[in-house]
Amino acid sequence: MSGERRPAAVTCTAPINIAVIKYWGKRNEELILPINSSLSVTLHQDQLKTTTSAAASRDFKEDRIWLNGREENINQPRLQSCLREIRRLARKRRSGSEEESTPCILSYRVHICSENNFPTAAGLASSAAGYACLVYTLATLYGVETELSEIARQGSGSACRSIYGGFVQWLMGERDDGKDSLAQQIAPESHWPELQVLVLVVSAERKPVGSTAGMQTSVETSPLLKHRAEAVVPDRVKEMCEAIRQRDFERFGQLTMKDSNQFHATCLDTFPPIFYLNDISRCIIHVVHLFNTYYGQTKVAYTFDAGPNAVIFCLEQTVDEFVSALRCCFPPESNGDMFLKGLPAGPAVLSKELKMAMD
Ligand code: ADP
Ligand code: DP6
Ligand code: CO
Repeated sequence: MSGERRPAAVTCTAPINIAVIKYWGKRNEELILPINSSLSVTLHQDQLKTTTSAAASRDFKEDRIWLNGREENINQPRLQSCLREIRRLARKRRSGSEEESTPCILSYRVHICSENNFPTAAGLASSAAGYACLVYTLATLYGVETELSEIARQGSGSACRSIYGGFVQWLMGERDDGKDSLAQQIAPESHWPELQVLVLVVSAERKPVGSTAGMQTSVETSPLLKHRAEAVVPDRVKEMCEAIRQRDFERFGQLTMKDSNQFHATCLDTFPPIFYLNDISRCIIHVVHLFNTYYGQTKVAYTFDAGPNAVIFCLEQTVDEFVSALRCCFPPESNGDMFLKGLPAGPAVLSKELKMAMD
């Protein structure tokens, strides 16, 4: 390679996160400020993850991005917000220090290439892992070391929570400029190692209504959503923090299911209504309740984001038995790939895989 001009390049990965208290609705579309706080579990990224590479070179004529092998429009406002913010911080850092690698990279255009190893836009939090990874990769490329959740949030709201591993809260904040609308870890994944996650892929298809458009219509039309944000979620977030701190699966599971159900009720209360769950999703809900009723306690809990795919939480000792119960309803011969993964809920951290030196 000697003699050739090599670009500065970096590859990073980021995990998905699944909200147990859902974010649905913005008070500011441009800055992505939510109408309520939310809380999530960041999943192990051995299997479900985004991998993003970014390279800067003086030979590049313009910024470009490829997603899952296809070129996307780099001028999308959310991509631009993330790029602009990271470059602004890099410039600030440069003016405050004497490091010499950053200045030249900063004047170059970037090429970004990102892959999700799971269905995109199917309700499995691709926008969360995707934008967390984008922001982290660009920050690594430019040597920016500040808190990144505020920038990831401007790519996709749920992305701010994927910046941290374990159990993460996104504080809605009060300010109009969004400076206090940040994610923070409430407990590391090591806090509750027995907690397991099963992702049941019901459909890998793109959802008919994207999260951004869906929540916009809900804010405009759903009285239930307003009630939820003002009168339900604030207490629920506090209770959920407590349940997690105490590793109380009964409370954790009940709150998780109730919040998922209320989120989907707000979708139905939206006009025209949005249907993210399908018959298979509803069947999974039914099996979970039958299972819990049989045991007289909450052994398993479901949650569904904006899509039909289920995320199941349970403790380690319940996994095999619950999978057997599911197999009775969804025989493996006809549902071979339904059980995508059985994963521990963490540990998940953003990871750099490769960094090449510049010029
Ligand atoms: P999901 O439920 O998968 O999060 P959303 O409707 O919230 O679905 O967001 C899907 C959108 O997120 C995609 O159409 C794309 O614009 C963006 N996205 C997904 N993955 C990535 C990625 N790896 N990098 C950048 N943007 C991504
Ligand atoms: C149902 O973060 O994908 O998954 O901020 O418009 O990009 P934008 O939406 P997004 O919405 C996620 C909605 C949810 C719940 C959650 O993750 O909290
Ligand atoms: Co999303």
